[in-house]
Formats: sequence, C-alpha cells, structure tokens
Amino acid sequence: MKLKALIASGGRGTRLRPITHTQNKHLIPIANKPILHYAIEAAAAAGITEVGIVTNAGNDEVTSAIGNGEKWGIRITYIPQEAPLGLAHVVKIAEQFIGNDSFIFYLGDNMVVGGVKRYVDAFSASGANCFLTLAKVRDPERFGVPEIRDGMIVKVEEKPEHPKSNYAVAGIYIYDRHIFEAVNNISPSARGELEISDAHQYLIDHGYKVGFSEITGWWKDTGKPTDLLEANRLILENIDPFIDGGVEVDSRSDVAGRVILQKGCKIINSKVRGPAIIGENAVIENSYVGPFSSIGSETHLTNSEVEYSIILKGCRILDAGIRIEGSLLGNDVEIVRADGKPRVQRFMIGDQSRVEVA
Ligand code: DAU
Repeated sequence: MKLKALIASGGRGTRLRPITHTQNKHLIPIANKPILHYAIEAAAAAGITEVGIVTNAGNDEVTSAIGNGEKWGIRITYIPQEAPLGLAHVVKIAEQFIGNDSFIFYLGDNMVVGGVKRYVDAFSASGANCFLTLAKVRDPERFGVPEIRDGMIVKVEEKPEHPKSNYAVAGIYIYDRHIFEAVNNISPSARGELEISDAHQYLIDHGYKVGFSEITGWWKDTGKPTDLLEANRLILENIDPFIDGGVEVDSRSDVAGRVILQKGCKIINSKVRGPAIIGENAVIENSYVGPFSSIGSETHLTNSEVEYSIILKGCRILDAGIRIEGSLLGNDVEIVRADGKPRVQRFMIGDQSRVEVA
C-alpha cells in the first residue's frame, strides 16, 4: 500500500505568544531541533517518501527553513492555506496532492515517541477507512474526545464541555480517500472552522469504519509554553550523549550525565548536569546548566544558573544572580545585572511576555 504524509504547519500559534510574534510555532526548537523536524522524521522513518506540508499562504518561513526534503530522503510539496480555516480545511486543500492514496495526517505541533510506523501497520491490518490515535489525558476538554462503546468509537466531539471519555484524539490520523467525502460535506463550526472531529463524525454516521489505537508511550500537543518545556524534557530524557567537533571543556568544568555538546561550544569553569544540550558556539562560563535544559546556539551564560528551560539562540545571560528555571526565552534575549544604586529590576519586554519574580 502506498502511503503519503500530510503535515499541518499553518495556524496562528496565539497560545505561544510572544515567541510566535516573530517565529512560526513549528520552528521553535525542542532539544535544539525545530518541532516540525520530529513530524518529518517520523514520516521518513515509516518509509514515507511523499510528504505534503500545509503552510500559511504568503509566508515562506517554513518553506525556507525546511527545504525540499532531500536531507531526509523524501520529497516535500508545499500546500499554501489562505487562512487557518480548520484542520478539515487543511485536508480539503490537499486533495490533489493526495490523489487516491491513503495518507497519514500529522499535526506539526504534535510529538510522539517511538514513531508512527506501528499505527500505519495497525491501520493496514484493520481495513479501516479512518484510523485515530488516542491518548489518555487529564484535560480532555482541550481536545477532540471520543466516546467509546463496546470497543468502537461511536462519537467524536471537539473540545466538549462534558467529555465522554478521558481520551484525547491525538494529532496523528490515518485515512483512505473517503476522508475527502467527509471534509467536502461538513459545515464550519461555531468558531468558523472546518473541524476535523466533524469529519470523523461524518465518517461514523455514514457507516465508514473508524479504527483506533491507544498511544501508550508519551504524546504531546505543544499548544502551550508549559507543553514545550515538558516536550523538551521528554526528548532530552532519550538523547544519547555526544560531543561534536571543536568543543572545548576546560579542566575546571564538570559535564555529567547525558549531554550533547554541539559544534564549537565552550564550557569554562562550569557545571553541566544532563540531560541537556548546549548549542553551536554557545559559551557557558562560571555557570551551572541543570537537567532538562536546551541552550541555543551562540547563547552566552556567565555567572548564571539555568535548569529545566529552553533558551533560544543568541541570548546573553550575564551575571544574572538568579536561577532561571521552568523558563522559555526567545532569540537574542538579554538578562544582565543592573549596576549602580538603587538596586532595581529593569524590564524591556515585548508584547504578551510574562515574567515571574520571587
Ligand atoms: O493535538 C490534538 C488536537 O488537535 C485534537 O485533539 C483536536 O481534535 C484538533 O482539533 C486539534 O486541536 P487544536 O486546538 O490543538 O488545533 P490547533 O488549532 O492548535 O491546530 C493544530 C495544528 O494544525 C497546529 O500545528 C496548527 C495547524 N493548523 C491549524 C489550523 C486550524 C493549520 O495548519 N491550519 C489550520 O487551519
């Protein structure tokens, strides 16, 4: 069976502001790699070579960052979406690219450990027209939620006030061509979107076979800043230690646990306790980098402490005198010591930023 992949990378990313004011959310790095790479790698690892990526029309950020797919041995076709009109709309505009093939629809902000091959195999074995992946969650009202009776999905509701199960429909779906009948026959929801959950309900109501599998490992929808930190933790938990070329670690430094030191970074009189990743040409001096930290390329840390955080590229954290924890810093952010009297905190912060002070 020939299978294609369709990856959604459009949308507004409003819940991840301010980072998404200047950067598409799918390009935010987790363990120093754009979120979108994880979806592409999962498709490539499942043997898929034809990948369509839906992007916001008129914005070439994703196209230029990701390229034609050559480096993953796949071919990427970009499909522009004129506005974020819903996930069923994403599928609808991909009809020509998909043709009569079956395909995996992967939301570019979702991450799953262990890849997707197992679900592709389960889909093929089941003879289903539509195959959903379900994950147990504490807050099903944030997601598409299935109602399951006698081992069958009888209903799917989008962000219901009163969820009928504690499962979320994860953003990894597998379809045959009948999904196009569904997306072409549903109407926009109250929030004006063509909902993917309504397309699933259409298939159930019209007698198509909807199968499912439970995701037993971890799965994450990186919709909120805390989700990004959690995804970063989970990815770092599974890294293999690696030291790239041109790295310098002086004799006074202590690098312990699973740590990736990327090309040209310098660790001077500092302690790095893994799992952690230090980006290209980053400089860590007289500092502490604790578990579950991703330090971006060209970032400088001097006399500072960071733990369980994502720091993007080009940041300068100099003599901060505080421990930065559970934090997400965008590109080129500066946190520096204020000299002189009175000893004050001085902020120069963009729209919709958040600072918590002790
Ligand atoms: O993550 C799983 C959930 O994803 C499902 O449980 C829900 O049923 C499904 O509707 C979806 O809910 P979200 O509220 O998380 O969807 P969101 O608007 O965040 O969009 C998901 C991804 O698709 C994100 O990467 C942005 C992209 N997107 C979204 C829309 C609405 C597009 O590319 N185009 C769009 O029109």
